[in-house]
Amino acid sequence: MTSDEVRAVSRRPLPPLDYDRPNLARMKDALLGGHDHYEIDRLAVEAFLTVAPDGAAVAKEFRSWASRVVRFLAGTRAVGQFLDLGSGMPYVENTHQTAQRYNPDALVVYVDDDPVVQAHGLALLEDHLVHVSGADPCDPEQTLNDPAVAGHLELDRPVAVLLNAVLHHIEDLDEAKAVVRGYLDVLAPGSYLLLTHYYTDGEGPLGEFARKLDGLMAGIGYPTVHRSRAEIESLFDGLEILEPGVVHLHEWWPEGPRLAPLTQLNHLSLSGVAVKP
Ligand SMILES: C[S@@+](CC[C@H](N)C(=O)[O-])C[C@H]1O[C@@H](n2cnc3c(N)ncnc32)[C@H](O)[C@@H]1O
Repeated sequence: MTSDEVRAVSRRPLPPLDYDRPNLARMKDALLGGHDHYEIDRLAVEAFLTVAPDGAAVAKEFRSWASRVVRFLAGTRAVGQFLDLGSGMPYVENTHQTAQRYNPDALVVYVDDDPVVQAHGLALLEDHLVHVSGADPCDPEQTLNDPAVAGHLELDRPVAVLLNAVLHHIEDLDEAKAVVRGYLDVLAPGSYLLLTHYYTDGEGPLGEFARKLDGLMAGIGYPTVHRSRAEIESLFDGLEILEPGVVHLHEWWPEGPRLAPLTQLNHLSLSGVAVKP
């Protein structure tokens, strides 16, 4: 199949847009200071910021974390393939821009089943060595068989699988684990899992804050679950977790002096990078 043929097959018909309820990808775009969202999304973000005023800074922290990890893998570990699952709206620095700065031959496939993300991705990101899939990132079989993925990724070579702020939207832990396994089981040894996840130890005011945030997101129609450290670590079962371990995002290879003060929200997420032996 030529690249153009793969692209034609992978352009599924986009489902109709729903302007009557907030949309997670567009809300994230609003939080990140983008322009690709509607009033209904802004209203939902305003409600979120009333409860968590530092939400915008922390949304950026998730993207900065991904840049640091991708830079490390593309540069130091010479990883040549990245599968960015639940990639969200294109941002100022996307996975392929970071990866290709450190490894010009790096291939990146973005996967997100949101029609707005898909449309923007196809228009703004697709390029030589950069592809966009509209498959459901939480359905490994569908994603791995999607022409945009199957037509480009070489499964006999290591792939870095990025699940940044996605799995805390899956309420059932076994289901979240099955998503990870569905990818890592079929990928070559030397493949990586890059993961961020909402976290709580359930105690005190922070535990209460986490429950409040989960309730707020459920009300918006996108339930989240803050999991315990043990639950989040169990998502890495069978993999070797790299230094510095499963840590808060700001602790994963921080660079330079910290300019923004840490907030409660910074303590409600964990991150980790692991390799398949
Ligand atoms: C919170 S955003 C994270 C975006 C990006 N990875 C980041 O860190 O900024 C989650 C993305 O995953 C996609 N997604 C796909 N399946 C999902 C699911 N079952 N639950 C939540 N989000 C899902 C959404 O469309 C959205 O773009």
